[in-house]
Parts: sequence; C-alpha cells; structure tokens
Amino acid sequence: MIYEQGSHNRREVFTAMKRFRRAAGLAVAVGMVVGLAAGPALAISDEEASVLADGCANCHAMDGRIPPDIPPIIGKPARVLQAQLLAFKADEVPNTTIMNRLARGFTDEQIEAIARHLAAANP
Ligand code: HEC
Repeated sequence: MIYEQGSHNRREVFTAMKRFRRAAGLAVAVGMVVGLAAGPALAISDEEASVLADGCANCHAMDGRIPPDIPPIIGKPARVLQAQLLAFKADEVPNTTIMNRLARGFTDEQIEAIARHLAAANP
C-alpha cells in the first residue's frame, strides 16, 4: 500500500518534470529565434554585453591579478577601452598578437557595449 502510493507519486513527479522540461526547452528555442531575428535592429542589452565581456576575463584577470604579458584593462574608462578595441580592429596597433583578430570578431556596436560594461564593472 505504502509502496503503491510512492510509485504513484513518482510517476506524477516524472510527468510534471517532463512537462516542465518541454516548456523550458520551447521557451529557450523561442527566445533564441526572437533574439537572432531582433539582434541587429536592437541596441545591445546589458546582458549581451556581459556575455561578450566574460571572455575578456579569461586572459585579462579582472580581480587585480594580472598575468604577465597581458596588459590590465581594469580601471580604464569606457571611451579608452572602446578606442583601443577599435584600433585593434582596424589593425592600427603594432605588435599585437591576438587582440586584432579578436576585435575583428565584434561589431562596432558590440565593442561599444563591451567597453561600457567593463568600465561599469570596474572596482
Ligand atoms: C586570448 C587572450 C585574450 C583575450 C580573450 C582578450 N585579450 Fe585583450 N589583450 C590580450 C593581449 C595578449 C594583449 C596585448 C596586445 C596583443 O598582443 O594583442 C591585449 C590587449 C588588450 C587591450 C590593450 C590594453 C593596453 O593598455 O594596451 C585592451 C583594451 C584589451 N586587450 C581588451 C580586451 C577586451 C575588451 C577583451 C574581451 C572582448 C579582451 N581584451 C580579450 C589578450 C587577450
């Protein structure tokens, strides 16, 4: 009796989980389609800027621990960061190893949003 009760509950929980997962998956899919379709027309959201800027921290430590050979980018105003990134993108910086290629991967709007986000996130 107790066992039957238990298995009944488990089945209900399982069905509910399946339903939830399907709904969540659909929401993500719809979000992606809407996001892609609307992307170029809209200003870049803080969330997107944050995602784009997350990759910078892989090389530029953001907590003050700067690895050797990688210049710090914390504490820079947004307009300085933006100008530096645009210069990398335009291949105007001599002796660049990676940033020119990296910067080319962003639109000018994304560069502006990344610079704004990083400057605002500075300690
Ligand atoms: C793969 C490692 C790596 C990643 C990821 C990376 N950088 Fe860099 N960054 C460098 C290196 C190395 C330099 C030195 C210039 C060069 O060699 O290209 C540099 C230089 C810079 C400079 C110039 C700083 C100065 O004072 O000369 C800025 C600004 C900068 N990076 C911003 C960013 C931003 C913003 C991101 C994220 C979108 C980012 N970097 C991601 C490695 C990286």
